[in-house]
Amino acid sequence: MIKIPKLSEILKYVKESDVYKSMFRHGYIDTPVNRVLAITSNVWLHLHPAKINREAVRYRFTWGMGGITFLIFLVTIVTGVVLMFYYRPVVEYAYKDIKYLDFDVAFGPLMRKMHRWAAHAMVITVWLHMYRVFLTGSYKPPRQFNWGVGVVLLAATMFLSYTGYLLPYDQLAYWAVTVGANMARATPGLGHQGPFGPELGMGPGNDVAFALLGGTQIGSATILRFYVLHCMFVPIVLSVLLIVHFWRVRKDGGISGPNVIPATPTPPPPASPPTRGEERRGA
Ligand code: HEM
Repeated sequence: MIKIPKLSEILKYVKESDVYKSMFRHGYIDTPVNRVLAITSNVWLHLHPAKINREAVRYRFTWGMGGITFLIFLVTIVTGVVLMFYYRPVVEYAYKDIKYLDFDVAFGPLMRKMHRWAAHAMVITVWLHMYRVFLTGSYKPPRQFNWGVGVVLLAATMFLSYTGYLLPYDQLAYWAVTVGANMARATPGLGHQGPFGPELGMGPGNDVAFALLGGTQIGSATILRFYVLHCMFVPIVLSVLLIVHFWRVRKDGGISGPNVIPATPTPPPPASPPTRGEERRGA
């Protein structure tokens, strides 16, 4: 008869195997030094700090919003790469490819909707994260630089939304990007319709809107430009800045955390009156 091993025996076998030991070099005998070693000598765990402030990582302090934003960003990356397999950034095909995705590709609508909803959600969570950082005063020294990095991250997130908007190349996309380009045209100093634009040499053929659209109107150059910005340039910039952002959180002493007022030691309870027996014994 085949003997079915117990779970504890299977775990023991796995933990003593060479493969397991090559990944987890230190066991976890619960001492302060071993805790640090278990984290620092593991390729996945060493990204985390060996020690953290318990109060700072509570959800009621961070709302988990930075982490949620990062998770949603990863969802947009994975679903976006799947969409790239089916989408061609050319005026003739862009709209048709989206319809093909919507009606003919297996899981196409799911991928597209996940990408779209994740993008919307990321805009909301990044604002909430910034709001939390503001409310807890976590922008103050020594975290001013990371706040600055965050502002660029916010701008990059919004720009990702804007550039992604054109890609389906339907009426909504066309006119939404037209509105954005008209706003760019009115940028002070950079747009030819904005204050100081003409004075600084801006015209319809060389201002910021022209650079954005690749011409004076939305066309084939625009769609290619937005595609490269949306799928390559901005995600790469955002990813590099995220590395800086996370690294800075660590270097600035970890998540700021609330100012926890140490609990005042409770005074000892007043001595209880002697019992009858104690009185009799004269205690
Ligand atoms: C793609 C966008 C972003 C991601 C994924 C992100 C992620 C994170 C994460 C995971 C943390 C650790 C603490 C926490 O989860 O709350 C954090 C902290 C921080 N973030 Fe962001 N962040 C982003 C955008 C921003 C923005 C827009 C700002 C402000 C303008 C900002 C400013 C900060 C600051 C100052 C800290 C340190 C907070 C502290 O020590 O309490 N971040 N971020």
